[in-house]
Amino acid sequence: MGRFDGKVAIITGASRGIGLAAARRIVSEGGRVVITGRKPDALEKAVADLGGEGYVLAVAGKAQDAEHQEEAVEQALATFGRIDVLVNNTGINPVFDAVVNVDPSAMAKIFEVNVIAAASWVSVVHRAWMKDNGGAVVNVASLAGQYPSPGIGVYGASKAALINLTQQLAYELAHNGIRVNAVAPAVVKTSFATALYADNEEEVAAGYPLGRLGVPEDVAAAIAYLASEDAAWVTGQVHTLDGGRTLSAGVE
Ligand SMILES: NC(=O)c1ccc[n+]([C@@H]2O[C@H](COP(=O)([O-])OP(=O)(O)OC[C@H]3O[C@@H](n4cnc5c(N)ncnc54)[C@H](OP(=O)(O)O)[C@@H]3O)[C@@H](O)[C@H]2O)c1
Repeated sequence: MGRFDGKVAIITGASRGIGLAAARRIVSEGGRVVITGRKPDALEKAVADLGGEGYVLAVAGKAQDAEHQEEAVEQALATFGRIDVLVNNTGINPVFDAVVNVDPSAMAKIFEVNVIAAASWVSVVHRAWMKDNGGAVVNVASLAGQYPSPGIGVYGASKAALINLTQQLAYELAHNGIRVNAVAPAVVKTSFATALYADNEEEVAAGYPLGRLGVPEDVAAAIAYLASEDAAWVTGQVHTLDGGRTLSAGVE
């Protein structure tokens, strides 16, 4: 028996990285997944990687596009008949600079994708399925949303907003049988984070008591737990994944 037998998950931004690993984990535990991303070619590869069309449906589009959100949810219901899990995984971090130097239009874009889109996906899934059937939402936040992070402060502020949104939605939707939780990873080896470790991985990893950076599977395991019935009494929580990184905060 798999934890996701008979269950269906929508995972945004899942053609690679953490989203793809979460999809792989849920499929390996019996689930069906709907994956999204902007590039159809990358999605097609991911569908093949995950076992083909019986298990996976890909819907291409921008996570922040309202029409795409509606289309993905409609297709999920038409193809698989239910939506038990929503993983809001898409996130962007297009600038590396001090907050005071970031153009407001760039800030707005970051908040649009990382916060407003996540809230909108929950609204659409809630209206179409979860309000009557319950479900689980997992938002992919970041350690940067819990601590100041030099160079990625606006991104961090957006992830802090996503964490608060997680708590707010958990409170508002509990009566519908909907649980809402978040994961907050430190540096995970994906193309998104390459600039943070590619040139000096050993040095960066030395700051992690467990001696290594994260890999997508580390986060996927936590997403799967929070999305599953194993976490039936868990809502509004933020699961930090950081190899012990924050244990040494304040200690030289
Ligand atoms: N890696 C880390 O160190 C780390 C740490 C903490 C939190 N996170 C968070 O983890 C999440 C996933 O990141 P990742 O590291 O797995 O990144 P990744 O490997 O770069 O994967 C990002 C995925 O999102 C898709 N995507 C990007 N922008 C999109 C958009 N506007 N609409 C729809 N899909 C979009 C990409 O496909 P297309 O390019 O084809 O759209 C790809 O499938 C993000 O929310 C990130 O903030 C990452």
